[in-house]
Amino acid sequence: MVGLPSVLLCTLIAFTTAQTGRDLDRFNYRGTDGTDYGPEDWDQVSCTDTETCLGWPDGFETARGWDLGENHCRWCPLGTRQCGIHHQSPIDLQRNRAVPGDPEEKECIDVHWMAYYDSTCDWENLKALNAFSIERHALKVNQPIEQLASGDYRLACRNASGRRFGRIDFSKGFSEWWLMSHMDIHVPSEHTQEGKRYDGEIHLYHFYSIPGSQSSTNNEMASVTIFLEAYDDVPDYPMLNRLICQWRQVEDKTREECGLPSVETEYPGCFYYQRGHTIDGFNTIALTQDGTQRNLRQKSRNLRPKSMSVHDLILYNYAQSQTNSSYTPKRLLHSEEDHAEADPNFDWEKFVTRQDGNANITQGNRQLLNYDHVGPWFNYFPMLGVRTEYYYRYSGTQTVPPCYGRFFEGNNRRQTNHWRVLKDPIRVTQRQVDEMHRLLKERIASVDDPLASCEPDTAAKVDENDPTKISVARPVMETRSTHYKVFCECEDWRSKFPEDVEWCKKGLQDRLFNHPYNFETDGF
Ligand SMILES: *[C@@H]1O[C@H](CO)[C@@H](O)[C@H](O)[C@H]1NC(C)=O
Ligand SMILES: *[C@@H]1O[C@H](CO)[C@@H](O)[C@H](O)[C@H]1NC(C)=O
Ligand SMILES: *[C@@H]1O[C@H](CO)[C@@H](O)[C@H](O)[C@H]1NC(C)=O
Repeated sequence: MVGLPSVLLCTLIAFTTAQTGRDLDRFNYRGTDGTDYGPEDWDQVSCTDTETCLGWPDGFETARGWDLGENHCRWCPLGTRQCGIHHQSPIDLQRNRAVPGDPEEKECIDVHWMAYYDSTCDWENLKALNAFSIERHALKVNQPIEQLASGDYRLACRNASGRRFGRIDFSKGFSEWWLMSHMDIHVPSEHTQEGKRYDGEIHLYHFYSIPGSQSSTNNEMASVTIFLEAYDDVPDYPMLNRLICQWRQVEDKTREECGLPSVETEYPGCFYYQRGHTIDGFNTIALTQDGTQRNLRQKSRNLRPKSMSVHDLILYNYAQSQTNSSYTPKRLLHSEEDHAEADPNFDWEKFVTRQDGNANITQGNRQLLNYDHVGPWFNYFPMLGVRTEYYYRYSGTQTVPPCYGRFFEGNNRRQTNHWRVLKDPIRVTQRQVDEMHRLLKERIASVDDPLASCEPDTAAKVDENDPTKISVARPVMETRSTHYKVFCECEDWRSKFPEDVEWCKKGLQDRLFNHPYNFETDGF
């Protein structure tokens, strides 16, 4: 395979209205302190005339030189009606949408399960492009994009077949593929299901753009979301360990650059460091679990800055257009293959068996490091982890400032964040959940952070009763009819997973409320 596929252009954004604001705002899950705003005050997060805007976490890299315009955050907590009409996220999700005759019944108009294909960002690409980060509000894996001399952007990862975004097909309502921007993990979950809050929630952020079109549907975002729940009787979820080891490495790199010692807590399975002392910085000896040494030569001087996502680009264009009427949005180039037809003969059973991460911990008698053997890496791995495709769908907003998802009067769902929240949680272990809490709680700001360089800096709220527990979940918002909540379950289409098809033979009450998951559970 030679050469790049022919390139299509799409212009991302055009917006209106302007606002002013303060410098170096941030947001947190605790409470307002100066310009570090608590959840009630996220509508005040704003950035003007500053080199760096911290308040808009998914736009950090693009923040240089921007003016941040509109903020869609409103404070509409569950149990109040103070906001009138709105569609803020997160919300509580309810299964009665699928109960025939229920006053809240809403038809699932989707006609098939979501199909999804990987991006050309494999594990090595992601590592080389510095795609893993510990943000103030979430653990993140980016799909890195890069700027060309023309000023346009494109996906930074290419393989011999070219450059392709991860893509997912949403069935009804959108004729094109949604393309993947990044993955965020929040602990605990932000959404609740029938009032239950889970141990975590993975957001797979997507954007929608029709090649060559100026259509308003170009400005759409979507999050496919998967819950995480700790169970006592399961092994670690392997792919999550692979990510945890990577975030621990990011943590240690930041600490090293700041002249701080490594964290003392170990996470068995991830190797630990014995730092060398070289002028270039990072000359590290990794000790494997059986004590053999491996030299990891990395030079911090050569590490690239944190990568940028499509999400960042969208928000950047948006922000620029607020204050500059002659601004020409920066374009994202992507390939025809991002829009190619799905393969109707794709063998999902085989694919899942190969990719679900249940690989051997040892190969021969060699102890493998950092779960690198788990996989292969698949950017949609959480979708395989749940082994179902039944989900809630609704129209909402981002769950962090600026809460992208403008509210239009009337039956208009343009520029919202389109949520697809999968019903079943991924089963993880308590040690995995605890480590994600620790990584977020003990976060150190990077050496080039303008406000808190090398200081402890997290948006998390620490639990009063258990200081090892934190929360980076926006409080649940009041549901309004304008969220258009729908529950698509197994009556709506036939599952691709045999165990789902089996489970679907249960009666409605049993299926929705007594044994809601496709694996064996009693209630929750
Ligand atoms: C490039 O990446 C895509 C998406 O992951 C994959 O389907 C394709 O097989 C890869 N091509 C090569 C030559 O590795
Ligand atoms: C406005 O946008 C145009 C086109 O993108 C650019 O050339 C110009 O410098 C911008 N003006 C300001 C004040 O940023
Ligand atoms: C683990 O490895 C052994 C030996 O290579 C193989 O026979 C076995 O099928 C593997 N198990 C899994 C779950 O992959």
